[in-house]
Amino acid sequence: MPTRFVRIAELRAHVGEIITVRGWVTHIRSKGKVAFVVVRDGTGVVQAVLVKTELDPAIWERFNQLTLETSLAVTGSLRVEARAPGGFELSVSDLEILGPSPLDYPIQPKEHGIDFLLDHRHLWLRSPRQRALAIVRHEIEQAIHDFFYDNGFLRVDTPILTAAIGERSGLFETEYFDEGSAFLAQTGQLYGEAAAAAFGKIYTFGPTFRAEKSKTRRHLTEFWMIEPEVAWNDSNDNMRLQEEFVSYLVRRCLERRSAELAELERDTGKLEAVRPPFPRLEYSDAVTLLHRKGSAIKWGEDLGAEDEALIVADYDRPVFVMNYPREAKAFYMKENPADPRTVLCDDLLAPEGYGEIIGGSQREDDHDKLLRRIKEEGLPLDAYGWYLDLRRYGTFVHSGFGLGLERTVAWICGTQHIREVIAFPRMMHRLRP
Ligand code: 4AD
Ligand code: MG
Repeated sequence: MPTRFVRIAELRAHVGEIITVRGWVTHIRSKGKVAFVVVRDGTGVVQAVLVKTELDPAIWERFNQLTLETSLAVTGSLRVEARAPGGFELSVSDLEILGPSPLDYPIQPKEHGIDFLLDHRHLWLRSPRQRALAIVRHEIEQAIHDFFYDNGFLRVDTPILTAAIGERSGLFETEYFDEGSAFLAQTGQLYGEAAAAAFGKIYTFGPTFRAEKSKTRRHLTEFWMIEPEVAWNDSNDNMRLQEEFVSYLVRRCLERRSAELAELERDTGKLEAVRPPFPRLEYSDAVTLLHRKGSAIKWGEDLGAEDEALIVADYDRPVFVMNYPREAKAFYMKENPADPRTVLCDDLLAPEGYGEIIGGSQREDDHDKLLRRIKEEGLPLDAYGWYLDLRRYGTFVHSGFGLGLERTVAWICGTQHIREVIAFPRMMHRLRP
């Protein structure tokens, strides 16, 4: 009778049975007549034990051909073994090599430089740390969908090829038949606003592109952004939604991904503090605080990474900096009635120096003011006719924000560089693998 093929994550249900596991070799060790192979299949690891005297010599011989990352099928009886990696041990009765792996496997159990690892990203993904990062990312993605679904938001998929420009940062441009240039979307927001007028509460979840020549640990040229847009929310409602949302994401990871956070050696005590309400600082007060801390920032400038770190150092949870000067922000933000030099917006800064994870704002709903801002920014009017229509036909108070997925995952995981939290990062100098 053929034995059952079982994924390692499901071993618990098969103790005492003869089963087959398929996977890749991660460790090999032998002591004379006894040999150990640790096998990884992506869902976990299991230790297989071979005893020479109990095996067909041909099978024992195959052990000697095993190398790091050889793919194989091992069959044997399964038992609980607390001392073994993964907590189970398979007493091998059969071993089949499926795909040999030459001895020059590039990633060895030693220190490698980050560039080397990124060049071998297709293989680096097999390491336990990368698996933990991928699982936390997935948890956050799923939590995002659950949060919005449970709160009555409609998901809307917005175009990636666009004619209108959303943000000020660099654009990827491509020829588009007879229509001139198309730009890869920097944001789904403008379309999200049209959808909010149609459906009330919406969110987008998609890739966004910025041809930024920044080589910081926080910038990718391709990253994923989640952008809710809510009809009738003002800037205050918008920040309340953000603090509820971000706290939910953190809580989900603490509740469901403690094993992965432990693998990443994340200090989860720091995450436990993330609960609403989050402190709110007016931009002007933030500048005063920064001057007191020695920053040279001038009123009117956007905050730099160092400024952000100085601000959050005083707090144990994310901090809103709100109502920036108009010139520091995008054209679509609503003029602040209390101080028209500023706009009704917020950046949410993650604790521990992880920087801005959200940019949000109330949108300019006055047709003429918006038109003026589009002209001031020198944006091509013909591409924004439809966007101005949203203010012509039943204009409405509305607000939204964009959460950068990679920055959020990096913060929750406690990784310094966001390039590790996406499977195949795209950066200025990296297009492969
Ligand atoms: O602050 P940003 O530019 O805001 C927008 O794009 C708005 N349209 C959002 C909205 O109101 N709907 O970008 C939002 C977030 C940032 O806070 C940051 O987390 C992330 O997107 N982000 C990046 N992440 C990785 N690499 C980059 N180059 C990023 N640029 C922005
Ligand atoms: Mg921003």
